[in-house]
Formats: sequence, structure tokens, C-alpha cells
Amino acid sequence: MRILSGIQPTGDIHIGNYLGALRQWISLQDKNECIFFVADLHSLTVPYDPKTLQKSIIEKIISYVAAGLDPEKSAIFVQSQIKEHTELCWLLNTVCPVGELERMTQYKEKAKKFKNNINAGLLDYPVLMAADILLYKADAVPVGKDQTQHVELARTLARKFNQKFGKTFIEPADVLPKMGAKIMSLIDPKKKMSKTDAPQSYISLFEEPESIQKKIMSATTDSGKNIKYDLVKKAGITNLLTIYSLLENKPIKEIEKKFKNKGYSEFKKSLIKVVIDFLKPFRKKQKELATREVYIKEILSRGKNKAQSIAQTTIQEVKEKMGLI
Ligand code: TYM
Repeated sequence: MRILSGIQPTGDIHIGNYLGALRQWISLQDKNECIFFVADLHSLTVPYDPKTLQKSIIEKIISYVAAGLDPEKSAIFVQSQIKEHTELCWLLNTVCPVGELERMTQYKEKAKKFKNNINAGLLDYPVLMAADILLYKADAVPVGKDQTQHVELARTLARKFNQKFGKTFIEPADVLPKMGAKIMSLIDPKKKMSKTDAPQSYISLFEEPESIQKKIMSATTDSGKNIKYDLVKKAGITNLLTIYSLLENKPIKEIEKKFKNKGYSEFKKSLIKVVIDFLKPFRKKQKELATREVYIKEILSRGKNKAQSIAQTTIQEVKEKMGLI
């Protein structure tokens, strides 16, 4: 199968991105043809600082490799370096009903959050994402829950295009982890963990131990004192239990049993240790990679070459079908 996915460069990659997406990428790369990129064009749709964008992009490439992506197995590149993404986006725009875009949950949320910057790119964002996926004729797209509506639109656009111009695109499937597809904010467990929210709400993949400790100790919990999985009544503890279970690779039931008759504080202290130990090798690798500029450039250049050859072939086919060539 051909697998494709991406992460936006702005903000730190956090354990939500890791458990929802990155961890799946890493396990998929052994048996599939994998293509992963940094979605820099998507990040232009909300306020950002052009002076720090390049640095954030390179940091994301480093994060991918530090977390376990193997550049020998996966092609890794930067979205804006392959101009066919924007070209296909325009072509797909012509088969995309505006109504489909206006009903997108993420568009509605971002339009509310950035009231003074509801630009056309924000509305068109899912079409660019569909272009990212369809350009490579990906079979499957490993993502967290918040992106499934966008992958669904990619399927819709593939179908519409195929009906109008003849079979061209594959309808891509989304791949979600059984658990961890939506890790919640540490401050407000009713909201998903997000890179663009306050730093206390997430734990970055490279967070220092002291900071991990502070964030977990002050994570919002619920009234009562049992360590019990209950999405409705105990959203805070349930989120922490989910993180614990995924990082320790132990079933929730076993963790509940371990902390039976023990308080939140004891549970949190144990979780702090689990998170610190889990992230330790990532921090080490990240520090090492940060000094290897040439190696990072090499990874990007190889990834770009591979991506470009697939992208050019698809665009040629699409333009022929649409009567542009
Ligand atoms: P982004 O950068 O918001 O998030 C990257 C990946 O992390 C997942 N994710 C989460 N998973 C679990 N819990 C959370 N709290 C959490 N927050 C984020 C996201 O679902 C995503 O998989 N539009 C995309 C980037 C993109 C893309 C693509 C993805 C652009 N083109 C083509 C796949 C295919 C985005 O903004 O992800």
C-alpha cells in the first residue's frame, strides 16, 4: 500500500500528534511505501511569523526522524517544494462544491478563533489536503480523528473527478489508531490537545523532565478520587489513563487495578515517570540531529526527488484528462 500523511510546521509536535499520527506512520513504514511531508502551505492560513517558519519546518523534519521515521524507508519532504500540490489544488477546486467546504468542522472552528483573518485559504484548506493525498494516489492516510472529515472530502473529490473525467484517482482510506486518535488538552479535557493552544495544555515530544512534571501535576482532573476510565464523568483522568496506557503499552484495566485505592497524586507521579522515560530517547536523538544539517538536507533532497517524480506523472495525467494538454 502507498501511505501518505503530513503535519503542519507551526507549534511543537506534541504527544497527541505522536499517538494519533506519527506512531502509526512509524509502524506502517516497514511494510508499505511511505510518503510523509511537512504541510507548510497549510500553515499560512492562520497568523504566523515568516521569520521563524523555515526554522519550524526543519525542526519538524528533525522531529519525524527523532521519533522514529527512517529516511531509508520513508520519503520525507516539504510540501511547498513540490509545486504540483498547489496546481492540483486549483484543478480540484473546480470539482469541489463550496457547500462541502463551508460545513467542515475545522473551518468553522478556525473561522471563530481567527475572526479577523477568515481568508480564502482557510476555506480551501481541505482541497489542498485532498490534492496532497490524491497527487500521490495514496491508498491510506494515517491521521488523528480531527482529520477524518478532510480525508472523507478527498474521497468525495476523487469520486467526482473520476465520474467527470474518467478513472484517475484512488479513494483513500483514513487509518486511525484504536486508542489515542484524539488526545485531549491537559487544561481542558473536553478539548483536543492542540499545538496552537497554551503550552500548559500539551506535552511536546522533546519536553524537558521538569516541565513534564509541572504540566502533569497541574493537569485538570475531576472531582472524586478514583482512577477510573469514564469518558463522560471523568474526562481528565480518562485522558491521562489513555496516555499512560499507550506509552506503557498496558491495558487500561491493568492501570486502574494498579491504582485502586490510590489517589490522583500517586497516579500523576507515576505517569510523570512514564512520560519522562518514554520521551528520553527522543530528546537525545533530536539534540544529535540538530547538529547534522547536511544529513537533514540530504534526507529532504532524496524525499523531494521521489515525491516529484510521482507528482509530475499524476499532474500530466490529470491535465490530459481535463483537456489542458
Ligand atoms: P496537524 O498538524 O493539525 O496534526 C498532525 C496530525 O496529528 C493528529 N492530531 C492528533 N491526534 C490525536 N490527538 C490530538 N490531540 C491530535 N492533534 C492532532 C492530526 O489528526 C494529524 O494526523 N491538515 C493536517 C496536515 C495535512 C495532512 C495532509 C494530513 C496536510 N495535508 C494530507 C494528512 C494528509 C493537519 O493540520 O494536521
